[in-house]
Amino acid sequence: MFMNFRRIRKCQCLQLISMCFVLSVLTLCWEQLDHHVVRHMKSYSYRYLVNSYDFINKSFSVSPEEAESFCSFPYLLNHHEKCNGKDVLLLLFVKSSPENVERRQAIRSTWGNESYIQEELGVTVRMVFALGVHPHPHQKASIQQELRREDLLYKDLVQQDFEDTFHNLTVKLLLQFRWAHANCAHASFLMSADDDIFIHMPNLVRYLQGLKANGVQDFWAGHVHRGAPPIRRKDSKYYMPYEMYQWPSYPDYTAGAGYVVSGDVAAKIYQASLSLNATLYIDDVFMGICAKSMGVSPQEHVYFSGEGKAPYHPCIYEKMITSHGHVADVRHLWKMATNPKIEGISSGIMGKLYCTAVKVMLLCKPYYMNTYPCKAAFS
Ligand SMILES: *[C@@H]1O[C@H](CO)[C@@H](O)[C@H](O)[C@H]1NC(C)=O
Ligand SMILES: *[C@@H]1O[C@H](CO)[C@@H](O)[C@H](O)[C@H]1NC(C)=O
Ligand SMILES: *[C@@H]1O[C@H](CO)[C@@H](O)[C@H](O)[C@H]1NC(C)=O
Ligand SMILES: *[C@@H]1O[C@H](CO)[C@@H](O)[C@H](O)[C@H]1NC(C)=O
Repeated sequence: MFMNFRRIRKCQCLQLISMCFVLSVLTLCWEQLDHHVVRHMKSYSYRYLVNSYDFINKSFSVSPEEAESFCSFPYLLNHHEKCNGKDVLLLLFVKSSPENVERRQAIRSTWGNESYIQEELGVTVRMVFALGVHPHPHQKASIQQELRREDLLYKDLVQQDFEDTFHNLTVKLLLQFRWAHANCAHASFLMSADDDIFIHMPNLVRYLQGLKANGVQDFWAGHVHRGAPPIRRKDSKYYMPYEMYQWPSYPDYTAGAGYVVSGDVAAKIYQASLSLNATLYIDDVFMGICAKSMGVSPQEHVYFSGEGKAPYHPCIYEKMITSHGHVADVRHLWKMATNPKIEGISSGIMGKLYCTAVKVMLLCKPYYMNTYPCKAAFS
């Protein structure tokens, strides 16, 4: 075939230019999106490169007095007696903010209803909301007054006198483990959860009862981030300055949206917090640091979600433990997910086949969803 030489040159030139264009756009997007794929690739490589975190003890150790200074805020609202005289299966901390009264109401009347859990599930779960004070000086006083009124009614707020901000979440983490150590050390499990999360309490209680019957120890479960690299983009919510953490990856940790530890691990985290520098403000990462220094590692549970919202389907409800990002639909989801008809939906061969097929369609997507992983479809 004969072709004009100049046409070929022109063609190639165009190709070259368009390729350059595509490449530069890709490079730009790469940086800006902090691409999930890149993060995953990075974390996979770091997982195998950095497998010793010996620097933690050395770099994060502070004197007991200094460690104390990170969380020595006086209590404004407290209920020491919350766990007294009960065989507590689970102490549940919900990280809330002073203004989120609606969310707290929804939780109290759904998955966080202690009397429902006692009557229907036959176990004692104690739930408290962990709070700081509203950071805005103008609103602080009035919101504080409303909080006091709310607490008189429900007696479930634990509040310390620090500003309730994103960058003080580690202070809130310390509050939880200190409070648990002082007031509820006999609880078999401790859970920390966000106030925009949905917890399938019957499933969770069943799961924990099974673990307790086996005398589980050294237990920490949730949606695990393995070898996650610190984010160095200044505009990210999770920006980590180099001076605060200079290593290429964090120790493994569970997403702060919701995770469970056994009582002995809660005690160890408390112990670790007595001598660690708690300036690092990403609370779930700091939890990973505390755990690592005590030799505790998290384990993945496929039905704990990270940032993602679980798909709405009875086959999912049958297994789900947590799902993130529920505010307006908590009551509705609670009603659907605890409907007695759900139980046994996947029983029998047909039920099992049906639910597996449904879950494969809902969970095994070609793109990253940040909810339950594909393998959850087969468990
Ligand atoms: C909690 O559950 C109990 C018993 O099931 C019920 O009587 C009560 O109204 C519920 N509380 C709220 C705030 O919905
Ligand atoms: C954390 O709370 C303390 C005590 O209220 C306050 O001084 C500090 O500014 C807060 N830090 C952040 C980052 O909000
Ligand atoms: C804690 O860490 C921060 C930065 O990560 C550092 O500036 C500070 O000096 C440390 N505190 C102590 C008491 O070592
Ligand atoms: C770090 O310190 C803790 C408490 O002092 C100790 O139990 C642990 O073994 C240390 N870990 C390492 C890796 O040295």
